Amino acid sequence: MARAVLDDPERMKALDPRGVLDLVLRSGETLREGYRLGQEVDLDPGPGADHVLVLGMGGSGIGGDLLRSLAYELAPIPVTVVKEYAPPRWVGARTLVFACSYSGNTEETIAAYDACGRARALRVAITSGGELARRAEADGVPLVRIPPGFPPRAALGYLFGPMLAVLERWGILPSQRAEVEEAASVMEELAREWGPDRPEAGNPTKQLARSLAGRFPVVYACSPFTAAVAQRWKTQLNENGKVYAVWNVFPELNHNETVGWTLAGQPDGLLHVVVLRDAADPPRLVQRLRITRDVALQKAAGYHEVMSRGRGGLSRLFSLILFGDLVSVYLAYLNGVDPYPVAVIDEVKERLEREG
Ligand code: F6R
Repeated sequence: MARAVLDDPERMKALDPRGVLDLVLRSGETLREGYRLGQEVDLDPGPGADHVLVLGMGGSGIGGDLLRSLAYELAPIPVTVVKEYAPPRWVGARTLVFACSYSGNTEETIAAYDACGRARALRVAITSGGELARRAEADGVPLVRIPPGFPPRAALGYLFGPMLAVLERWGILPSQRAEVEEAASVMEELAREWGPDRPEAGNPTKQLARSLAGRFPVVYACSPFTAAVAQRWKTQLNENGKVYAVWNVFPELNHNETVGWTLAGQPDGLLHVVVLRDAADPPRLVQRLRITRDVALQKAAGYHEVMSRGRGGLSRLFSLILFGDLVSVYLAYLNGVDPYPVAVIDEVKERLEREG
């Protein structure tokens, strides 16, 4: 009998010639390296910031959402994430702006970067090159140059790590050194535990990918702390797995989406719920999850909970991210597609460029 694709290294390699899986398995190293790059960037101590703003789209913007989750409890000032052309009106000389674009050529991010410059904001650019690197150099804006050659979504550690380091250097976050080291080591350990060499029979990431094949993933975060991770799962399932997916978060989903489950199973119940759990989920939210399962989620074709790993908040977030990234790549293999290309994203960008 032929081996199942997820236990067949040759077939997985053939479906993934540019090695997205290998990049995912290197996530620990990427985070460590991104943090180091942020410590090295040439930066004034600065006059102090009263607000942090992260500009970035897609794979370059999700780092901002994760930063906001972490900073929620740790930072004395707010973190706002902007995923559009124009920054908010309040941006000014005491706003610290991270302009994140892996390619450096994303028009929304460049337009917002320029507008923040006109508002005299304190800017830092994080990019592998392109127009953003050119402008940062011309404007004398600190530039964290990250390695080229990755699909942006696989460069999360490079895009996110520098922000942690800069916020720490500016006294907005406490030292993140031990947190980063723990998260990187946890991810390295998990990459072995959940990697391609671990057969499906003993590998929960492969098993979840198989359960999701042919179904519609619904990813819920049990608490707002992991909301950005649920969003990351959804976008990775979209871009790597090439499937449609949705995400939501407790307690907000109890106030609207739960009602949609009334008819959700009709005509065919293909919705598969994945709930992201964390040791620090507040008891009231765990209670909400239990009740919601009873009153609404029995309509789902399948239900899984995935628990975070590690001690610190950063490890817990990134362990869940690694799980989801692997599921999305294994799902691509099960769907018989290459996880790398994102043809529709490229086509929209090209057509916009041509139309001017
Ligand atoms: C992820 C991806 C997209 C891009 C987004 C913005 O791999 O392809 O989500 O991240 O289109 O482009 P960049 O990251 O170059 O600013």
